[in-house]
Amino acid sequence: MVKKRRSIRRYQDRKVPREYVEKILEAAFYSPSSMNRRPWHFVVVDDREIIQKLANTRRALRFLETAPLAIVVCGDETISSAWVFDASIAAEHIQLAATALGLGACWGHVLDRQHSEEKSAEDYVRELLGIPEHVRVLCVIGIGYPAEDKEEHKEEEIMWDRVHWNRFGSTL
Ligand SMILES: Cc1cc2nc3c(=O)[nH]c(=O)nc-3n(C[C@H](O)[C@H](O)[C@H](O)COP(=O)(O)O)c2cc1C
Repeated sequence: MVKKRRSIRRYQDRKVPREYVEKILEAAFYSPSSMNRRPWHFVVVDDREIIQKLANTRRALRFLETAPLAIVVCGDETISSAWVFDASIAAEHIQLAATALGLGACWGHVLDRQHSEEKSAEDYVRELLGIPEHVRVLCVIGIGYPAEDKEEHKEEEIMWDRVHWNRFGSTL
């Protein structure tokens, strides 16, 4: 499954069944988290108009325009200072679960990016969805039936020279 997962940015005009949405969220909640604090919040968006607004967060999120489903991955910073790591792992679980169900998914980054000169991408999403200040927004995962074909990952991508045995610089 890890080889099959690719960033899919174009989706068919077809709804993701509710039971699939639930399976994807279940996978997110099985993520590990620092000190098992589990700071996650997920805003599940299947309203087309709201998804269009999410696509306007920043250029790198335009791919959401054809997505029938978007999951906004958040973390409560009052629950854990490690919320970024915990939310990142959950975001990857979401993508792997989507892949396992025959869906395509892609990470649209929000944290520490700008919507405009005056507004951060995070504030734009927070205002759009009514997310409170202490709940931080990491990314939006677009999900849907793929409308593009991508090859799975290849062994050539494995960077054995970046693997160090016992001591940095000592490769195989
Ligand atoms: C932290 C992070 C941020 C990313 N942000 C975006 C993004 O804003 N927009 C986008 O289209 N893809 C984004 N991606 C997807 C990457 O471009 C993609 O994973 C990379 O090109 C490798 O391709 P693959 O996912 O098909 O293996 C992001 C991925 C990660 C892990």
